[in-house]
Amino acid sequence: MRDILDQLEQRRAQARLGGGQARIDRQHKNGKLTARERLDVLLDPDSFEEYDMFVAHRAVDFGMEKQKYPGDGVITGWGTINGRQVYVFSQDFTVLGGSLSETHAQKICKIMDMAMQNGAPVIGLNDSGGARIQEGVASLAGYAEVFQRNIEASGVIPQISVIMGPCAGGAVYSPAMTDFIFMVRDSSYMFVTGPDVVKTVTNETVTAEELGGASTHTAKSSVADAAYENDVETLAEVRRLVDLLPLSNREKPPVRPSFDDANRIDDSLDTLIPDNANTPYDMKELITKLADEGDFFEIQEAYAKNILTGFIRLEGRTVGVVANQPLVLAGCLDIAASRKAARFVRFCDCFGIPLLTLVDVPGFLPGTSQEWNGVIKHGAKLLFAYGEATVPKVTVITRKAYGGAYDVMASKHIKADVNYAWPTAEIAVMGAKGAVEIIYRNELGDPDKIAERTADYEEAFANPFKAAEKGFIDEVILPHSTRRRVSRAFASLRNKKQALPWKKHDNIPL
Ligand code: HXC
Repeated sequence: MRDILDQLEQRRAQARLGGGQARIDRQHKNGKLTARERLDVLLDPDSFEEYDMFVAHRAVDFGMEKQKYPGDGVITGWGTINGRQVYVFSQDFTVLGGSLSETHAQKICKIMDMAMQNGAPVIGLNDSGGARIQEGVASLAGYAEVFQRNIEASGVIPQISVIMGPCAGGAVYSPAMTDFIFMVRDSSYMFVTGPDVVKTVTNETVTAEELGGASTHTAKSSVADAAYENDVETLAEVRRLVDLLPLSNREKPPVRPSFDDANRIDDSLDTLIPDNANTPYDMKELITKLADEGDFFEIQEAYAKNILTGFIRLEGRTVGVVANQPLVLAGCLDIAASRKAARFVRFCDCFGIPLLTLVDVPGFLPGTSQEWNGVIKHGAKLLFAYGEATVPKVTVITRKAYGGAYDVMASKHIKADVNYAWPTAEIAVMGAKGAVEIIYRNELGDPDKIAERTADYEEAFANPFKAAEKGFIDEVILPHSTRRRVSRAFASLRNKKQALPWKKHDNIPL
């Protein structure tokens, strides 16, 4: 018996070595942790239950019988993050470059199926040279099996992809269909075709980092939601994100004990809005002052900075925040901002996370570039996402809410539940200057008259009371009491139930 136990330990030790010490050293030299070290950082100590440690590929072509490694380049199983269950896979670059074979894919599919069945998120740590070249179509089939599960799991369990090395070819499409993509700066990249193919086809010279590194995908393409300095920081942030999310759509978002008074007054908010309506201010200040312990987990921080998206807690409960940012493009909506916020709203709605919308928006960004690139359809995404969301929706208008953007930003008319405005709110079809130039065009030659007309218009519309008279705003609130009012509004909505008409699924403009 003792021999048998020893043999098991020997086999395990061999599997844990992956592609061998030399390749592990190379991984470390490149500033990367190994697949197992990453799981140690991601999961609670001693919580990892591994499956399929001894699975090996069955390929025989190209000398593959001599290149068998137990586990076949991916470590799979489940563990806990602060005591809550998650399923994980971690690709082992030391084994055939973490390349995906038929059996490697089967291991990933197995834990995805279990995650769906048991209602727990899947976190994928990607570090792979892509399809295992020696296996041909078997490995492409393996990818597609994973893709199909990504699609079926979407909206059922949170799926998080962490890109910790290369991720190329069609392999990028599994992460692309998950809810969040985190990248590691300088050691990860994602592209459909690499720099060499790009050079051949389009004659562009570009490095892998420029083409698909973390900066590119967080700031330019918006493929990735966040990037961090190294493996450890990235995995720590994944833990922080998981703490905010429900484990599946079958349960409510987690509630954490809160030590921050929900009635906390913040007098500094009474002076947040500058005297001049065209002077910007930082909307992040409002978000952090509202949030429990000032904690804001921002999503897509580097992209479309004219809108802010992310998670806070109120009374220990997760709330998704969407907020115009007057510091960038005056907070107007454009294609990028609409897409960014729409996807975030839909994520929150899938997983029962209430939505707080903070509005200071002068309208949609004008221009040929916006129109020719389809701002109509992209703007409609956000409108659609808000209108179909049945989670509790609370809106606070701090300053401008002009034109179509007023409607889009979780207005009463698209079924927001509680709509507040600060006394500084201006709810109108457009700003006073633009409005007067249109309706008093024949008086434009007379500056005194125009000034008078502008003052009249401001008097009439540069306030929240016209909207409040109609019940479109439920209450005009004092800025310093916003945290209390918003917390109470969400508390009143905890048992909200709203049904939509039966349909197979909707047809959101894509
Ligand atoms: C089999 C692979 C592999 C692959 C790497 N390796 N990629 N084995 N299939 N796809 C092996 C290497 O032979 C090497 O083995 C080890 O992994 C490490 O690779 P290196 O090249 O030494 O590492 P590095 O210099 O860091 O370069 C990493 C790399 C490069 C940039 C990823 O390996 C590379 O370009 N690989 C091929 C990428 C690719 O074209 N993949 C197919 C994409 S198409 P040894 O024994 O020396 O350690 C695709 C389609 C998916 O994925 C379709 C889904 C629909």
